[in-house]
Amino acid sequence: MVEEAVTVNKTKRAQFQASTQSPVRLSEMTVSTEDRQKCGLAEFDRVLGGGVVPGSLTLIGGDPGIGKSTLILQAAERWAGAGPVLYVTAEESARQIKLRASRLGVKAAELFLLAENSLEAVLEQAKDLKPSFLIVDSIQTVFTSALESAPGSVSQVRECAGRLMQQAKGVGIPTFIIGHVTKDGTIAGPRMLEHMVDTVLYFEGDAGHPYRILRAVKNRYGSTNEIGVFEMKDIGLTEVPNPSELFLAERAEDAAGSIVVPAIEGTRPILVEIQALVSGTAFGNPRRTAMGIDGNRVSLLVAVLEKKVGYALLGQDIFLNVAGGVRLNEPAIDLGVIAALASSHLNRPVPKRTLLFGEVGLAGEVRAVSRPELRVKEAERLGFNCCLLPAGNLKNLPAPKGLELIGVRDASEALAFLFD
Ligand code: TYD
Ligand code: MG
Repeated sequence: MVEEAVTVNKTKRAQFQASTQSPVRLSEMTVSTEDRQKCGLAEFDRVLGGGVVPGSLTLIGGDPGIGKSTLILQAAERWAGAGPVLYVTAEESARQIKLRASRLGVKAAELFLLAENSLEAVLEQAKDLKPSFLIVDSIQTVFTSALESAPGSVSQVRECAGRLMQQAKGVGIPTFIIGHVTKDGTIAGPRMLEHMVDTVLYFEGDAGHPYRILRAVKNRYGSTNEIGVFEMKDIGLTEVPNPSELFLAERAEDAAGSIVVPAIEGTRPILVEIQALVSGTAFGNPRRTAMGIDGNRVSLLVAVLEKKVGYALLGQDIFLNVAGGVRLNEPAIDLGVIAALASSHLNRPVPKRTLLFGEVGLAGEVRAVSRPELRVKEAERLGFNCCLLPAGNLKNLPAPKGLELIGVRDASEALAFLFD
């Protein structure tokens, strides 16, 4: 528990009273067509919904050390081609940023650094410089002197973000704030800012993998769940325009328990490998471990395999993993999970050019999923020759060249096709 003194802000109250806004007719309003600014990192622009909207406030959250500062510095260089960019570094010294910039080869003339923690000073400098972009790295280390609580506390983070938003909307400067996702509750994380900002992006990845995924979880100006894939190299982040190829590159061929599923992330189909390992448990309580997939979903699918297909999995340890450190949370991968579990349990590999998708219900039925045509097309592009999919999705689905489409009604039917 941390005590936080409440300070009543008198000027704020006055503001509300002085409001002179009156209602306007929506039909009579004219708005200039939004001109989005692209930075040229196609993966980043797409996640933003096609570029940055003037006056928008974007939050980039992620674990410490995942590469948020690297990403924003690379984007800042490109924005700086169009006008001054102010990069406020409250966490590292300007010299540290300079070192990173030389490593990344960033040398834009219009990129300004400001090592400053005080929000008032930042706003003052922004007023003078009139940047066309403002970056605050990170929101947990800036503070306003209007509040007495420590930087990083809930009220400080909220107040600072609120002030930055007022400025972004008032002057029309697109603003990016970086926030660390913290596991313990001592420092306020970006989650509590989600409702305030226009766009929330999460930069995720596994420390052991070079791949990083930028995911939009809220976007007032574009589609959510859009992802951008990057690879962290010694010269910074590089874009990965064809993630399917990358995620399948290291696939063990003809290995039992390995299955490819076409998942949809945002507007884009991505083929990923799901790996399962089912083996007899040495202890009384079998272990169930899932990485990259919701554990509850896996338990449900294991139960379906037990009850509806008749596999004896009760005394088995079950491990599931999505290769490449990707997280999948759409139901369309259910059938793939079932097949991976069955393949490992039976110790029979699935043919290497076969893939499958479909949602599996509690009765073992395979339900239709959204956008089958995108999934099938990506499978065709990567040279797969057989695809199991929900029978309900087969209607009106044009058969791609060289890819056989097989509609299945329930999980048993799919497994019979694969293993009998
Ligand atoms: P950083 O952007 O500082 O992370 P964050 O701001 O999210 O805390 O990135 C830190 C990690 O990225 C660090 O562990 C080293 C790695 N890295 C590279 O591998 N290559 C590079 O070119 C750079 C700049 C960083
Ligand atoms: Mg950083």
